[in-house]
Amino acid sequence: MAFQESARVISTEEIAHNTFQVFLNSPLISVAVKSGQFVNILPAPDWEMPMRRPMSVSGVDGSHLGVIFKAVGPGTDLMRDWKIGAEVDLLGPLGNAWHVSEKTPILIGGGVGIAPTWFLHNELKAQGVDHYLIMGSRTANEHFIEHDVGKKLIMCTDDGAFGVSGNVITGLDTIREEIELSTVKLFVCGPAPMMEAVREVAVGENIECEIALETVMACGFGICQGCTMEYVSNGESTDSYRKKFGLVCMDGPVFNAKEIKTCYL
Ligand SMILES: Cc1cc2nc3c(=O)[nH]c(=O)nc-3n(C[C@H](O)[C@H](O)[C@H](O)COP(=O)(O)OP(=O)(O)OC[C@H]3O[C@@H](n4cnc5c(N)ncnc54)[C@H](O)[C@@H]3O)c2cc1C
Ligand code: FES
Repeated sequence: MAFQESARVISTEEIAHNTFQVFLNSPLISVAVKSGQFVNILPAPDWEMPMRRPMSVSGVDGSHLGVIFKAVGPGTDLMRDWKIGAEVDLLGPLGNAWHVSEKTPILIGGGVGIAPTWFLHNELKAQGVDHYLIMGSRTANEHFIEHDVGKKLIMCTDDGAFGVSGNVITGLDTIREEIELSTVKLFVCGPAPMMEAVREVAVGENIECEIALETVMACGFGICQGCTMEYVSNGESTDSYRKKFGLVCMDGPVFNAKEIKTCYL
């Protein structure tokens, strides 16, 4: 069940370069939300644009709900400037959640795609579930997590300034010797090229994999049909629009990698 809730900003912090983590007091949504789900945010009470701004939930702490975002435009600029105590209108929790199986989880995030993977990481940690976290970014100042191979925290930078030099695929390659990838399940969220690269590896090597897709959204709950993704065809021709296409906000954002035609939406 989703709620419309007037939440209140509890804390706000720049945790990495142009990357902000905000906690909001949101007693209804924080109790109901599962890792992988998102909220649709009204960035300001007098927000004039028709579309709210969707953000994955990055974690919960009691009645507090976290989001992690980069300021990239008018909505996120307003969010960056939120003051403690400000009221924020939220819709959520929306979408589906990650499905953890008996396989060893490998969480892969890029950029602010860390939010839903960070939520899952902290849940698994609290449950004592052994897992890996691989994070990719362009350079060192975009990371806020330690690089510690012993703790299975593998940070990657394109320019090699921090952690593993290379992208998240290079990061994944570093653990191939210690774990057989047929025994793992990947949980992925990040920029489209990163997700697409992981999808190709997962499908090519038959590795279980879930991907949290992102696309431009309006309503966030299945009305506007503005967030379509295309399923892989099973070879049969079908006239059913619903079999060919899904809605990221309702059928996702989490999809089985084998069912997605492309991560570029
Ligand atoms: C389910 C879901 C979860 C998301 N979770 C997060 C999150 O945890 N943290 C976060 O920072 N962002 C997240 N996003 C993306 C976020 O919603 C957009 O970046 C945000 O709407 C930008 O709003 P704006 O008004 O600041 O900028 P806009 O002016 O709307 O956009 C600025 C630029 O970003 C591009 N853009 C907008 N939305 C997206 C998108 N979804 N994917 C790729 N490019 C986009 C625009 O084309 C434009 O170039 C999520 C999106 C979805 C659909
Ligand atoms: S955002 Fe409106 S249907 Fe998905």
